[in-house]
Amino acid sequence: MTKRPIIIDCDPGQDDAICLLLAMSSPDELDILGVTTVAGNVPLALTERNARQVRDIAGRRDVPVYAGCSKPMVRDLVTAEHVHGKTGIDGIDIVEPKQPLEKQHAVDFIVDTLNAADKDSITLVPMGPLTNIGQAFTKDPSILRNVEQIILMGGAMREGGNISPSAEFNILVDPHAADIVFRCGRPITVLGLDVTHQVLATPERRDRIRAIDNDAARATVGMLDFYNRHDSVKYGVRGAPLHDPCTVAWLLKPELFEGKLCNVSVETESELTMGNTAVDFWHVTDRPKNATWIHTADADGFYELLVERLSRFSDVR
Ligand code: RIB
Ligand code: CA
Repeated sequence: MTKRPIIIDCDPGQDDAICLLLAMSSPDELDILGVTTVAGNVPLALTERNARQVRDIAGRRDVPVYAGCSKPMVRDLVTAEHVHGKTGIDGIDIVEPKQPLEKQHAVDFIVDTLNAADKDSITLVPMGPLTNIGQAFTKDPSILRNVEQIILMGGAMREGGNISPSAEFNILVDPHAADIVFRCGRPITVLGLDVTHQVLATPERRDRIRAIDNDAARATVGMLDFYNRHDSVKYGVRGAPLHDPCTVAWLLKPELFEGKLCNVSVETESELTMGNTAVDFWHVTDRPKNATWIHTADADGFYELLVERLSRFSDVR
């Protein structure tokens, strides 16, 4: 089996953290070249720290962690402590990471790694505001030739918005970076709220994770128990949507998802609809079909995968 070289860009965030665990549990399929962090759910000083603590839980000291941009390209930073808690990964004890941050800036890591790579060889997996990716593509557009594809969590169509009436958080925080990414010309697969709101962390699913006897599963269910409280009340459902792990789940088992090639464009002018993703699902315009919009998930299959992969971890002493 050939390993897929990937760069994960994230803003942990409980769902980012669980996605990191899912990726780090799959070394046979995924060669994680690096984890880059960005300001989003909480400020950068916390997202980078959280990513390093999750790396320790996974026992994957081989994976370097980089800090990137502390604010969006144009707009002021908006964070989401009301969802994720003050630390960003409330639900687990905060422990000082064992390994330091890499010295290189995340944007430079992305540029240098892609420049050194073969054509169409690296998969980018962003699951926070797209600031690092937008800055990297702006700094050196020639790196695009070596991007095999981009699998991102962000946007919404029928689901409207989760941070404004018409925009999803990752896109609204940095719509200008998102616009750069959606216009980059490389294959993009988008897991937006329309599909992530189908994969709810119900009590039964959390109990299956709770039954796994290892630190990674205990951390996962601790974070889910906290993370669950906001969205399940807001949406009146039995569990919070597990947004970010849908990206890595798509890489590991794409057959769990269904999508459609269409145009996705980002609003960067109107304050009323800033960050909206206009998804031309029915091809009513002649805009280029720049992304595969994922619209359906096999939620039971998704949690089967998550439980099976979390069960693979052994405790790190
Ligand atoms: O809207 C959900 C997205 O915003 C997820 O990536 C979550 O972690 C936050 O970054
Ligand atoms: Ca995220």
